[in-house]
Amino acid sequence: MKSVLYLITVICLSIGLFASSIQASDTEVNFSEHIAPIVFNNCTSCHRPNEAAPFSLINYRDVQKRGELIMTVIEDRYMPPWHAYSKNYVFQDHRGLSQSEIGLMAKWMDNGMAEGDPSKMPEMPKFTEGWQLGEPDLVVSMKEGFTLYAEGADIYRNFVIPLNLDEDKWIKAIEFRPGKRTVVHHSLFYFDTSGDARRRDEADPITGYKTMGGTNQGTGSLGGWAVGGIPKLLPEGLAFRLPKESDFILSTHFHPSGKEETEVSTVGFYFSDETPTQRFTRLQLPPAFGALAGVNIPPGDPNYTKKDLFELPVDVKAFAVNAHAHYLGKSMKMTATLPDGEVTELLTISDWDFSWQEQYRYEDYVFLPAGTRIDATVVWDNSEDNIHNPNNPPIRVHWGRESGDEMGSVTLSIVPANPDEFDQLRTAIRTHTHVGQTRAKIQRTRNNANRTGNLGEGQIQQLIKKFDKDGDGKLSREERKAARTAFGR
Ligand code: HEC
Repeated sequence: MKSVLYLITVICLSIGLFASSIQASDTEVNFSEHIAPIVFNNCTSCHRPNEAAPFSLINYRDVQKRGELIMTVIEDRYMPPWHAYSKNYVFQDHRGLSQSEIGLMAKWMDNGMAEGDPSKMPEMPKFTEGWQLGEPDLVVSMKEGFTLYAEGADIYRNFVIPLNLDEDKWIKAIEFRPGKRTVVHHSLFYFDTSGDARRRDEADPITGYKTMGGTNQGTGSLGGWAVGGIPKLLPEGLAFRLPKESDFILSTHFHPSGKEETEVSTVGFYFSDETPTQRFTRLQLPPAFGALAGVNIPPGDPNYTKKDLFELPVDVKAFAVNAHAHYLGKSMKMTATLPDGEVTELLTISDWDFSWQEQYRYEDYVFLPAGTRIDATVVWDNSEDNIHNPNNPPIRVHWGRESGDEMGSVTLSIVPANPDEFDQLRTAIRTHTHVGQTRAKIQRTRNNANRTGNLGEGQIQQLIKKFDKDGDGKLSREERKAARTAFGR
């Protein structure tokens, strides 16, 4: 009897212990010790006063009162915002919660969001105020403020900042500082030596001008900034060339904040005195932001797709990748098929969001041997299910530079593994673009010919002129083959 009692006591005790140990581990999940570190490391860089996110997440109350909303956005992986994935390569500054962090947040919410002991809170991370990369070599600002309304559609606007440089410069980094962080979402940087941007600016009665993109002669891309972005130096030995007398162009995307605001952005340039030890270039597929790809998206099509590919003529090292499309963009992918047949993923964006146009830097250079085939796919969604579709009902959309038009491409930033092979690499990329131009031209000719039922005599003559490499007035087998390749047949 005694022993039975003893047994029961032991059982009761251990059940009690067991139960209390469950309780203990549940109450153990508390804000101060477990949740604050997750929030501080993943959310507070944007969710703090005077930053872009609409509210702060810097203390218990901030998080607790939005519990359900926060759970929704982290389970959907809508927050922290991050769109770039690769099975094979790691991106710098990757933002994202692990499954176990999400699990811990869920447990905390389910158990009533205990605060815990505030003295156990970690310190708020120290965010560098002011210039993140130290004092720049040149600081410039927009000449005039741009005033945006309190409420309404997002605004895209380009601003011209004359730099008045009397010599070419090598840029190691550009740091962008919005005047009003609550309204500026992202900004892409260009230089312009053609004067075209100035003319557009002068022709427009208010500050800046409207057309998007910088695909003209005499212009070049210099990267960009998006909310939460950390300015970075280019890898060792690389620099952007900034031609003398360039104007600097900011192509900025604004979210109205509910309050009228006037934006004056400031930009800091970090120059290098040393000539870069090697040059880098960009492989954009399809080239010219898709201008040559015949982008012509029927209304209602949820999966309009364009593909392009390029075979590397020399060994290459990739250091960054980015994608571009407008509102109808849906997904992008770039893969590398290595000479041994292995396929690696350079970039996958499965949920394109126009708001997050970032350049993604690889943690380490990605080595791609000569003979590697790079494939890019851009998919657009012109159905009414695309919540970003500006047209309801959807309408046909073509390639163009206005935000209501579409563009689409994936761009890989690369150096040849052997710097002496730079010209060979660049020539191959230019040839690829040129073939695209020719193909686009032939396509137009063919469309016209199809309309009349046949190729006109003049068009045939044009084709012969273009592909008759040996100049004998007719197309040999080889030349016909080249023409067919250019036709994409
Ligand atoms: C890189 C900046 C950035 C980071 C990091 C970030 N956010 Fe956000 N967050 C934003 C911006 C900007 C918005 C408002 C616009 C939007 O929805 O894109 C926002 C909106 C939200 C919203 C409101 C969504 C809605 O539709 O009402 C919630 C909730 C949120 N964030 C939670 C979080 C949490 C939790 C984290 C960390 C796990 C986090 N965010 C990390 C920038 C960020």
